[in-house]
Amino acid sequence: MLVLGIESSCDETAVALVRSGGHVLCSKIASQIDVHAVFGGVVPEVASREHLRAIQPIYAQAMQEAGVTIDEVDAIAVSQGPGLIGSLLVGVSFAKGLAVGQNKPLVPVDHVHAHIHGALLGLESDDVFPTVALVVSGGHTNLYFMEDAVTFKLLATSIDDACGECFDKVGKVLGLGYPGGPKIEAIAKEGVIGKVPMPKMVEQKDRMEFSYSGLKTHMINLLRKKTDYSQEDICAAFQEEALGQIIRKLTVALKNNPQAKSILIAGGVAANQRFRELTSKFKIPVHFPSLQYCSDNAAMIASMAHYQIKSAGLDAFRTTEWDSYSRYDFEAVL
Ligand code: KG4
Ligand code: ZN
Repeated sequence: MLVLGIESSCDETAVALVRSGGHVLCSKIASQIDVHAVFGGVVPEVASREHLRAIQPIYAQAMQEAGVTIDEVDAIAVSQGPGLIGSLLVGVSFAKGLAVGQNKPLVPVDHVHAHIHGALLGLESDDVFPTVALVVSGGHTNLYFMEDAVTFKLLATSIDDACGECFDKVGKVLGLGYPGGPKIEAIAKEGVIGKVPMPKMVEQKDRMEFSYSGLKTHMINLLRKKTDYSQEDICAAFQEEALGQIIRKLTVALKNNPQAKSILIAGGVAANQRFRELTSKFKIPVHFPSLQYCSDNAAMIASMAHYQIKSAGLDAFRTTEWDSYSRYDFEAVL
């Protein structure tokens, strides 16, 4: 089965072609990071307009690079949310147009769930499930228990800021620009962990939620004060605590779900090398996506769609099943 994936939920326009769920023929990404960097964060209206400019050329390039024609595509998959509404509408409208015009099934894919498929690409399902899976991105810090590739039981989420959002906000106060995560990681490499005291989130035994607003406020207050701490040591301490919270919650999740065979970690923050080091303490295999599939991409969308089709059947996604005008009735079949 050959699936064409389309992603436009935030600031990346992406198109990919994936065969059999795990074989990526081509994954094209047009990033808008430079456009938004001057504003210090993503500007939704600007993002929608950039998607409009990028989507057709990126689609044409992806088809050419993969060496396939639209006739060979079995289904079209599109990121249907969550995300910026104006941005999502560009990808969804493009996908609907293609699906109607070419009479192809159209698979609506949950963007956050799809991140997990970035880590699953190329793995054998039998070795992975059941699994504890984490999406750590700019918008989400979600922990799931998964029996299979399409069943997501939410174990925990953030009650305030997402982990990546916290990296970005702290990066902004440090004057590092957007996105803060990779820049903080680079500076933290030169620092010494433990020189700058950090608050720990109060651990509540039965509660699994993440919280990043306390750490963010602490950092803002610390950076407003005059201290002798170096920027390197500040970044190292902050990064350790931001990631440490995830490691502590993962430890609890594994204790509560001892049947888990593996851990999957995906989303933009999964690109962090220190994060990867910290997970080496776990006794079961930990799978991260390759760097190109950590942040937003369309291979993860096409791959997830493959498993949705396997589970619900291709007929569930025939184009007569959905409303071709609005996004709002375009609900996941699963
Ligand atoms: O998954 P993603 O590209 O977009 C969302 O769906 O949110 O994640 C972007 C987030 C940003 O907050 C960015 O700062 C963070 O991932 N990020 C990192 C690193 N690379 C990206 N955070 C920490 N360390 C990194 N190396
Ligand atoms: Zn994302």
